[in-house]
Formats: sequence, C-alpha cells, structure tokens
Amino acid sequence: MRIVILGSGRGSNAEAILTAQQAGRLGRARVVQILSDKPDAGILGLGARFGVPATYVDPAPFKTKLEGEGESRFIAAVQAAEPDLVVLAGFMRVLKPGFLNAFAGKIINLHPSLLPSFPGLDGIGQAFRRGVKVTGCTVHYVTLEVDGGPILDQAVVRVGPTDTLDSLAQKVHAAEHALLPAVIACLSEK
Ligand code: GAR
Repeated sequence: MRIVILGSGRGSNAEAILTAQQAGRLGRARVVQILSDKPDAGILGLGARFGVPATYVDPAPFKTKLEGEGESRFIAAVQAAEPDLVVLAGFMRVLKPGFLNAFAGKIINLHPSLLPSFPGLDGIGQAFRRGVKVTGCTVHYVTLEVDGGPILDQAVVRVGPTDTLDSLAQKVHAAEHALLPAVIACLSEK
C-alpha cells in the first residue's frame, strides 16, 4: 500500500508513521512521498532522515483552502506518487471537490479530539477550555464536511485535575502517534 503524507507542521505524526514502518509495525504500507504547503515545515525535514522524497508544493492563491491552481498542483504531485492512501497528518487546509474526487475514498485525516466533538481548528484547546474530562483523537475518512467523514478509529485521553493545556496536548499527541500508524497498518492488511 503506497502512502502519500500531507502535512503543514512539525511532522511528529509523519515521524511516528515512518518510525513504525522502520520497526515493521506498518503492515503492508510504505510511505512513498511527503508533501507540504509550507516551505519551512518541519515535516519536510523527515524526508532526508527517512529516505523519502519530501517536497513543498505551492498552495496559492488561497490561504486556508486548497482550490484553484494550488489544488491542481497538489493533485498532480499526489498522482505522480500513485498512492493507495493519502494521509493528512496536520495538513491545515480545507479540501475541495477537485482534490477529494481525484482520490475518492482514499483520503484519511487525523484530528486531535473525539469527533464529532470539537471539529475545526485547535481541537485540543477547545476541549480543554470546555472542561471535558475525556478527550482524545480520531482518524476518519475525509469528505466535503470538514472533520465529518466516517470514523475509522479513536483513542481516548483522560483530562486529569492537574492537567494544563500543555500537558493535555502532550497526552493527545502521544495517543495520536500510536493511533495513526495502527490505523494505517490495519487498512493495509484489508
Ligand atoms: C496533530 O495534532 C493533528 O491532529 C492536528 O495537527 C497536528 C499535527 O501535528 N490536525 C488538525 O488539527 C487537523 N484539523 P504534527 O505536525 O506534529 O503531526
């Protein structure tokens, strides 16, 4: 199963996927390409470390969505890698029908809350400020509804009485680093 990872940030989840692959814990999946919409994103640095092509793709003209010329550039870059699965690991843009139809049923996303609670930006902060006692993370298929596609799996994180936003974020990220590679491995065996 050929995997393309899209990310905009530091890439800790992409690193967890690549580490799982190295350790033989990614089933029949292997990462063939990393793409980012941010030229200085940490995720691009993983390419050299793990021997995977990692490329910046210009997302212009829009700031928060992937549409128009930027969408066409991303479609071409992903298609060139011939993926069986496209993994959004901290890719902070809303996908539109052009991209979704090009890879229909093959795109999954990681979100840092127990969806359908706290979709959108800053899922961890939203949950912390709401005072929930249980939160976590979700891996789901991507559809036109932002953070609304069918859920593949979730991991639960308890919010303790002494947790701060920082400590909660660390716990959620640790849960993400276990959940996402496990879901990919599971999909690759089907
Ligand atoms: C992760 O916490 C992921 O759940 C979140 O971005 C972070 C990326 O971290 N994604 C979203 O909020 C998507 N709505 P990383 O770059 O270290 O993997």
